[in-house]
Amino acid sequence: MGNAKLSAGGKDFDYSVLSGSVGPDVIDIRKLYGQTGMFTFDPGFTSTAACESALTYIDGDEGILLHRGYPIGQLAEQSSFMEVCYLLLNGELPSPGELKSFSTTISRHTMLHEQLMQFYRGFRRDAHPMSIMCGVVGALSAFYHDSTDISDPTHRKISSHRLIAKMPTIAAAAYKYSIGQPFVYPDNSLSYTGNFLRMTFGVPAEPYIVNPVIERAMDRIFILHADHEQNASTSTVRLAGSSGANPFACIAAGIACLWGPAHGGANEAALNMLREIGTPDRIPHYIERAKDKNDPFRLMGFGHRVYKNYDPRATVMQQTVREVFNELKVTDPVFEVAIQLEEMALNDPYFIEKKLFPNVDFYSGVILSAIGFPTTMFTVLFALARTVGWVAQWNEMISDPNQKIGRPRQLYTGPTERDYLPLDKR
Ligand code: SDX
Repeated sequence: MGNAKLSAGGKDFDYSVLSGSVGPDVIDIRKLYGQTGMFTFDPGFTSTAACESALTYIDGDEGILLHRGYPIGQLAEQSSFMEVCYLLLNGELPSPGELKSFSTTISRHTMLHEQLMQFYRGFRRDAHPMSIMCGVVGALSAFYHDSTDISDPTHRKISSHRLIAKMPTIAAAAYKYSIGQPFVYPDNSLSYTGNFLRMTFGVPAEPYIVNPVIERAMDRIFILHADHEQNASTSTVRLAGSSGANPFACIAAGIACLWGPAHGGANEAALNMLREIGTPDRIPHYIERAKDKNDPFRLMGFGHRVYKNYDPRATVMQQTVREVFNELKVTDPVFEVAIQLEEMALNDPYFIEKKLFPNVDFYSGVILSAIGFPTTMFTVLFALARTVGWVAQWNEMISDPNQKIGRPRQLYTGPTERDYLPLDKR
């Protein structure tokens, strides 16, 4: 452990430098305000480590993403979403027996309380599925008082399993409601992802056969979205959880944050952008717009706060597009537009200088659209997959003996104290 010196207000201060297992060291400034009377100032937290975590490591310059030390490319290629859920929650890859037991436990929580299904009928049919997800997930705490005591590890475990298990059912029901079809109940003889596909695309009138290529592609997409260090929605979950709020409310807060187009909403925005471009000859016009400071347009699915290299998830996503397009004999020109847009942008000095590469959201919409999801469901699927990351990060925070309520300060630039002026004097 090293140390860092700070000279402020004519005095010198020493701070410890802490090292993790890999990645940047941190300057421990917990005593800074008490010693200097000053705050640090870091809107957007570009230089701030808000917590200690052992879940996910990202090296943005090298394009590295590890979950509990395992590279995302290897997990996407060789693992399953259920196995990655177990890994994130427990820290190690499961044995065959542990995986079977975990998968069985999750499958036993896939149904929703029948009263909760009534909530959907209160929404307009054209409600955005993310608004339904925010409402229904938040309402889970009204049904599961047997697992909201966050000080009880058993409660934390049950609510974690419930959230992971129920998100596919909630997501599929939001889709069914939006198209006026009946809800399809879970079939626990199927895999986690196969069950989700059947609840989404199956109908009571006929048997639904899960396409193994699509099931594998969907499962891989879930793996790619499982967790991603201290992104905006995960930080939201941690901050909500730091007050002692129940896990269902915390995950609902994460869903709300993920919805933003700068974050998880980018997959929907990226496909809408690709469709608006329409044909490769229109790409240069949009690239020029993205570079124009006076134009708010950005290339959706491009750029990242951490990755200043290729997002390793985008690489796997692009390979998965080819698999799904081949399997479903898709000829949608949108993939060709995406490929050519990426090539032109990556050879443009603006994008090279600002180190803007495709991120996880650039290709995901192309795949999801080919499988049959409407764009409004894309962020719902991101939330479904990210729930395990949110839950694992929430558990890690709650179990941290140093955990305290998150309460940032500010640089105040408003009016200094002044006396109230009665109405007749104004
Ligand atoms: C996700 O944090 C996570 O890990 C998130 C995520 C996860 O798994 O949880 O990875 C998922 O949210 C991926 C990101 C999805 N969002 C988008 O694709 C939206 C488009 N991208 C941008 O809005 C932007 O790149 C962000 C929000 C992703 C990152 O923004 P930063 O880190 O705050 O960077 P910035 O906005 O300061 O951009 C740096 C420069 C700026 O130019 P200057 O002010 O320096 O002149 O690059 C420009 C930006 O204008 N820029 C872009 C751009 N992204 C950044 N210019 C054109 N098109 C873009 N997409």
